[in-house]
Amino acid sequence: MLEKLDALHTDFKAQIVNCTKQADVLNLKSQVLGKKGALSEILKSLKDATPEQRKEIGPVSNNIKQDIEKSVQAKLTEIEIGEVNAKLAENKIDFSLRESLIENGLTASGMHPVHKIQREVEDIFLSMGFDVLDGPHIEDDFHNFEALNIPETHPARDMQDTFWFRDMKHLLRTHTSTIQVRGMESRKPPFKFVGPGKVFRCERTDTTHEMCFHQLEGMMVGKDITVGNLIYFMKTLLKEIFKKDMEVRLRPGFFPFVEPGFELDIRWKKPDLKKGESEHSGWLELLPCGMVHPNVLRAGGIDPDEYNGFAFGLGLDRLVMVRYAIEDIRHLHSGDLRFNKQFKSF
Ligand code: PHE
Repeated sequence: MLEKLDALHTDFKAQIVNCTKQADVLNLKSQVLGKKGALSEILKSLKDATPEQRKEIGPVSNNIKQDIEKSVQAKLTEIEIGEVNAKLAENKIDFSLRESLIENGLTASGMHPVHKIQREVEDIFLSMGFDVLDGPHIEDDFHNFEALNIPETHPARDMQDTFWFRDMKHLLRTHTSTIQVRGMESRKPPFKFVGPGKVFRCERTDTTHEMCFHQLEGMMVGKDITVGNLIYFMKTLLKEIFKKDMEVRLRPGFFPFVEPGFELDIRWKKPDLKKGESEHSGWLELLPCGMVHPNVLRAGGIDPDEYNGFAFGLGLDRLVMVRYAIEDIRHLHSGDLRFNKQFKSF
């Protein structure tokens, strides 16, 4: 009987390696272990065996049974994995859409001009020791207005047409100055950082206005910071962007979160230069800035008697328009690949 069991085991092992379908494995299992299977057949003659023989055969047949069950399970899993892998290989999906990106000029060299300039400006500030911070698009009243010295009833709120949520407590941020507030909350002076990102205003769109555009806010806080420091950093930034020294001027400008506040203009060549018009005919308003208002420092947990600083906001879409002489801001958000493709080689 022991030989018979042994033969059955060997025979089973030889057969299972050749199974390629789960159904074959299950058939084989029932042929061997089923009620009318080969093992039961052999064990039928157990009734004629002596008690010693039974003692010997019992554990052997149990071991064989367990081994067969294990092999069946392993084989079933092996076949299943093989089938899944084969299916995956058949329906391979390239999630990177690489071919389509290349076709449409959207590989790294064809990045959207706003994002390209954003990264460029970030790199310039990183090289000057600034951190780059991020902030949420959905903001609360405190971070967008209150902490920036624009209390609830202040008329300055009207300067920024706002997309409010129904609860009238949350809004789509109207400027990246929210990142100023969040930056102050999370660090101790001295510090300097920039915060780029999308901002949203309930604007009627035209060639220079969009409902969604991009800003890059910057802030430096420390001891005895002056307007001279502000001008130095802005001129260095502009020189890096335009690859030449830029002539700048400061005009007074009102923003509730800075005092004094300025509009920084650059001399620039207009794209539609009229005949006889000087190349230096225009000043372009580029950068609102100023010294951080003491109330803003206070709201950010900083003692204004000990520290001061400057802040500025840079319109990234505006910068792209100036650099590439684009006449309508709406091109930037059109999603028209013919527009994007033009920046492939920049
Ligand atoms: N947050 C202002 C705006 O969007 C710009 C600004 C930033 C002005 C920092 C001054 C200082 O209009």
